[in-house]
Amino acid sequence: MAILFDEATRQFRLHTDASSYIIRLLDGKYLLHAYWGARVRAYKTDVYARFCGAPEEAFTLQEMPTDRLPQEFPAFGHGDSRMPAVHILQVNGSRVSDLTYRAHRITKGKPPLEGLPATFSDECETLEIDLADDVSGVRVTLMYSVFEAYNAIARSAVVTNAGAADVRIEKLDSACVDFDRSDFDILTLSGAWARERAPYRRALVPGAQGVGSLHGASGHQQSPFVALLSKDATETNGDAYGMALVYSGNFEACADVSQFGQTRAHIGLQPFDFSWLLAPGERFQSPEAVLVYSGEGLGRMSRDYHRLWQNCLMRSSFANKPRPILINNWEATYFGFDEEKLLSIARAAKKAGVELFVLDDGWFGKRDSDNCSLGDWVCDTRKLPGGIGGLAEKINKEGLLFGLWFEPEMVSPDSELYRAHPDWCIHVKNRERLEARHQLILDLSREDVCDYIISAVSAVLQSANIAYVKWDMNRNMSDIGGAQLPPERQRELPHRYMLGLYRVMKTITERFPSVLFEGCAGGGGRFDAGILAYMPQIWCSDNTDAICRSQIQYATTLVFPPSAMGAHVSAVPNHQTGRTTPMETRAAVAMCGTFGYELDATKLSDDELAQMKKQTDFFKEIKPLMQNGALYRLRSPFEGDDAAWCVVSPDKARAVATLVKTLKRVHMQGERLRLDGLDKSADYAVRFAPFTAQSDTPSFVMGGDELMASGLPVPAQRFDFESRMVVLERV
Ligand code: GLA
Repeated sequence: MAILFDEATRQFRLHTDASSYIIRLLDGKYLLHAYWGARVRAYKTDVYARFCGAPEEAFTLQEMPTDRLPQEFPAFGHGDSRMPAVHILQVNGSRVSDLTYRAHRITKGKPPLEGLPATFSDECETLEIDLADDVSGVRVTLMYSVFEAYNAIARSAVVTNAGAADVRIEKLDSACVDFDRSDFDILTLSGAWARERAPYRRALVPGAQGVGSLHGASGHQQSPFVALLSKDATETNGDAYGMALVYSGNFEACADVSQFGQTRAHIGLQPFDFSWLLAPGERFQSPEAVLVYSGEGLGRMSRDYHRLWQNCLMRSSFANKPRPILINNWEATYFGFDEEKLLSIARAAKKAGVELFVLDDGWFGKRDSDNCSLGDWVCDTRKLPGGIGGLAEKINKEGLLFGLWFEPEMVSPDSELYRAHPDWCIHVKNRERLEARHQLILDLSREDVCDYIISAVSAVLQSANIAYVKWDMNRNMSDIGGAQLPPERQRELPHRYMLGLYRVMKTITERFPSVLFEGCAGGGGRFDAGILAYMPQIWCSDNTDAICRSQIQYATTLVFPPSAMGAHVSAVPNHQTGRTTPMETRAAVAMCGTFGYELDATKLSDDELAQMKKQTDFFKEIKPLMQNGALYRLRSPFEGDDAAWCVVSPDKARAVATLVKTLKRVHMQGERLRLDGLDKSADYAVRFAPFTAQSDTPSFVMGGDELMASGLPVPAQRFDFESRMVVLERV
């Protein structure tokens, strides 16, 4: 039993294989958080006595004793002056709620979320706890689903208006956890376009600290994720408490340290500029947050998230399947292509072992640059006389699958769609419609707009043999307003947009189950678990430089698996950084993702094409391992000059280890790379990957324990930006 309610202690105990989460009912009324951490049999501490029994209490004049209580889901205005998890505005202007316990249910399985992406499993158990406020008639149901084998708990909250008057939700967290200490570090993932998701770790201080988004997307700038770490936490040791949101829109993830040295960690919808009108009888469900506790450092937390997303979040049939090696024409041609050019790239790539050709932006309307045609999903026959169907057929004849780029959520002011429906974009009447990349965002809070997108994209997908779709989204929201929403609902638009988007993505991905979908948002501007529920991979960043990518991808793996990271080998000098890196390093880095190419294969030398063939042959061999193996981060590029990781098969029989070096340090000898995750009692045959400069080195045997304790001997670095990649096989 993963969940039990103990009558004697009035405790709800949620157990995973390695963690426990305990909630306590006080006086039959108040729901208090008792514990989250390493698995315990029971929890005997009387939380009320611990938190409210301080000897000087009689002398404090300002605080209410309830101000110290570790709440499970704090409401605003009745005895807790910390940041609430839920804030309700009532018809008389009052914002006070007093949510007390009413009932609970423990069931097998997990109900889906209403209109939102979420984890799923028939195996897990779900606890629902009803709280209610008598005065307003508001009811809040807290949902907890326990994934025992993943050390994960999925949470969300449902607000129901059981009263007689309208109420407005002004804030609603997905999860909130009151820790009885504050000696933590906080870890977030932050960045910018082409520099997404760098890890930031710092000590908690009194007050609020955290991240959020107001971009109308989870964003390049901050990820919908936060972790609290014990001070001693490393990759392999210490406590890591992860909270990740299954959501792609405006969010907030914060930790608040109180005057008493407690920490309230919460994650959910961004409360700024949000409100939701709830009429009597209506319900509103928060997005889902997934909590993972690891007592074995960050590495274990990441691996639990990786397995959970792959097995219990991604609905795609590709979730656990190796993906085709692709070539994308974006950096090869940008908008300047015709059918012959595309076919010549496809032919050269096919010879070098590529399996899928992807046609990126520029195939529709009159799109010779980024200043027009978004919304007009009709093939430009000037460039492709046989249409998409004709091109797909020719690509298929060359022996490759065919894939296509869309940016379905957008409209160019210079487009047939905009001329026909100027009201379909997000805008505020009588205000300038600010363009970004010459485009506006379609108002996906509207049913008719969503239906248009579904039919326009479906028509193209039905018209040709399309095996893959890249679903892009290249600007953030501004001038937020919707023509169809009444004034009192305007602040609902960003969330209604996400609900519309999820309906569109669900409908299209279910309608075309054999198509592999890749999410994208100007690179990694919407790299989150919400998108992964529909699309099992996401373009990680518009920065394709191998050294930058070794950082971006390394940090992305804190929460997401390698199989979710779109990663390509591109040309040098790199288009974003001007840096020239060896082709083998570009490949070694891209192989820690979905692996593909984004270059003009017709411009490669014979040597490079031969190397490319060796790379694709090798990747085909290690694909299943990279898809389903466990990732161990070995050296952080944020802490030193190099990055290293290894991926180990579930049975520990095979592993691939990669080391990426940056600037060469002169007159240094070779080094040792200590591996992780291997079978200590086994011996492994070690060989260098066949496409690397060390491939002639004879293979050798080392013990798993030796490889982890002493380390793999690595030849000395000769040039800047070299890499080493080895395969290990149990003998
Ligand atoms: C975005 C994507 C790129 C490419 C361009 C096309 O920037 O991230 O990969 O598809 O759009 O316009």
